Amino acid sequence: MWKVVTYLIFATATHAAPAVNDFANVNQFALQLLENTYAFQENFNTKNVVLSPLSVWSIFSLLAEGSSGDTFFELMNGLRLPRDLRKTQSLHMALNSLLNSGNQDVILKGQSAMFTDCSLEVHPEFCQAATSYNTDIYSVDPSNTTKLANDINYYVCLATDGLITNAVTSEALENLRMVLVDALYFKATWTYQFDPLQTKQGAFYDSLGKHVGTVNLMYQKAPHNLAYPPQIEAQVLEMTYGKSSQFSMLILLPANGVPVKKLLNNLATNSLDWMDELRESGGGTDIDVLIPRFKISTQQDLITPLQYSGIHSIFDAMKAQLPGVSDTPLYVTKTIQSVELEVTEEGTTAAASTVVGLENRILGQRFEANRMLNLS
Ligand SMILES: *[C@@H]1O[C@H](CO)[C@@H](O)[C@H](O)[C@H]1NC(C)=O
Repeated sequence: MWKVVTYLIFATATHAAPAVNDFANVNQFALQLLENTYAFQENFNTKNVVLSPLSVWSIFSLLAEGSSGDTFFELMNGLRLPRDLRKTQSLHMALNSLLNSGNQDVILKGQSAMFTDCSLEVHPEFCQAATSYNTDIYSVDPSNTTKLANDINYYVCLATDGLITNAVTSEALENLRMVLVDALYFKATWTYQFDPLQTKQGAFYDSLGKHVGTVNLMYQKAPHNLAYPPQIEAQVLEMTYGKSSQFSMLILLPANGVPVKKLLNNLATNSLDWMDELRESGGGTDIDVLIPRFKISTQQDLITPLQYSGIHSIFDAMKAQLPGVSDTPLYVTKTIQSVELEVTEEGTTAAASTVVGLENRILGQRFEANRMLNLS
């Protein structure tokens, strides 16, 4: 009944950012994609929008290494990749080590795989790039889509501790020559857990103050960082996980009358300096926190939101340029993301999978009479 916009790993990446690697660009890409995904989903009146931008970034930045021409420039700009390939590679490594840096009360893991048609000649340099990003490579017969779907779903299921069992259907895999898969799993307990006895049903309102439903509201009084950056037009609460408090969730509550759309635009267009303000906001003071207990499952195709981010030609049968992947011309026809997210008194469990499918693209000239022809 209520609207929540959330995305994974964002806070994680900023919080643990080592000085040598600047995750600001990745976050900027993430916030832009979130704004665009929301704008796209609004057309369908979707109530909840959930996004795992990091999986998308990982797969498309690998494809960027095999791209050229407009495809390359659009990916560089859209993903906000550093001009220097070695910097992108070290960013990848840093993200990989971050993704596997959990501790006893925070489990965080990422896994990626490339399934390629055994009759497709993939350039060794591209395979090397994939391997250097810890991507498992499998040679498959994609014409048996039932088997391929089973293999991919099994891979994702293992990578997400059984949270995502249906990352793809066999229908979605038809005609694909290559499939790139990225899976993330996160499970952590709050530094300050909620007492389930304090959870009560409560009213939930939309941005105009209209009562939209009833939710289970969890309550606690605990020390958290809380800020109200005016440029964001929202109250921001940081709730940390585990004893080390190294990872956290940011919850943004738009100011009265500020629609979610405006909040997302503020996030995408402002610098992330407000995060420093948040971190310096004290944290010693006890805050009364009331947040809903919730569980969300979504599956969506992210091609249109990525196009809104300026990435076009890689999805275009006529224009995609991926000569570094294979001599066989390919283009991306699927970008299916599944997310499972659950927030409880104890903590958070989240999983995401992104499946990017590539097909053979059409070579040469084309005559497509799909519009009115002016014959006189
Ligand atoms: C596809 O693979 C499955 C095994 O997962 C097999 O049972 C089936 O016969 C295969 N179909 C074709 C058409 O080869």
